[in-house]
Amino acid sequence: SILEAAERERTFIAIKPDGVQRGLISEIIHRFERKGYKLVAIKLVIPTKEFAEKHYHDLKGRPFFNGLRDFLSSGPVVAMVWEGQGVIKYGRKLIGATSPHNSEPGTIRGDLAVSVGRNTIHGSDGPETANAEIALWFKPEELVSYTSNAEKWLY
Ligand code: TYD
Repeated sequence: SILEAAERERTFIAIKPDGVQRGLISEIIHRFERKGYKLVAIKLVIPTKEFAEKHYHDLKGRPFFNGLRDFLSSGPVVAMVWEGQGVIKYGRKLIGATSPHNSEPGTIRGDLAVSVGRNTIHGSDGPETANAEIALWFKPEELVSYTSNAEKWLY
């Protein structure tokens, strides 16, 4: 590949059950695509409670943990891996603050969500979490390596 390591940075992004049920899949994918990030893995899954606990293991013990786990496993989730320069940090910027009360207009949560318990989307918060979450949700062979046509104009 002609891409530098930094351009191959990857993050885990999930559209939560509220986003799927509200018909926001294409809207959310559109925002990542238009920015210039590359989709390298995608699937629709209903996580078990046990799996949801693994995903949110860092938050075990928080008062909202059980509700959060039950919510994530309540319906289909779109699990994705997006790749591109700075995608972990900037992906969080596209998503907006955790509570939609605080997320700016123009962000996904700012534009599309109202309450923290139904904030539509998850994105890894750093390089280590990104690697761990990608490994939790995807098998290595589910990550697709390819050169998109846009890349030579983006980098
Ligand atoms: P967290 O990892 O702190 O936020 P983010 O999703 O922005 O990385 O929390 C995970 C999820 O837990 C969050 O998206 C929504 C839920 N949550 C609550 O329901 N109540 C809360 O007070 C907090 C902090 C989070």
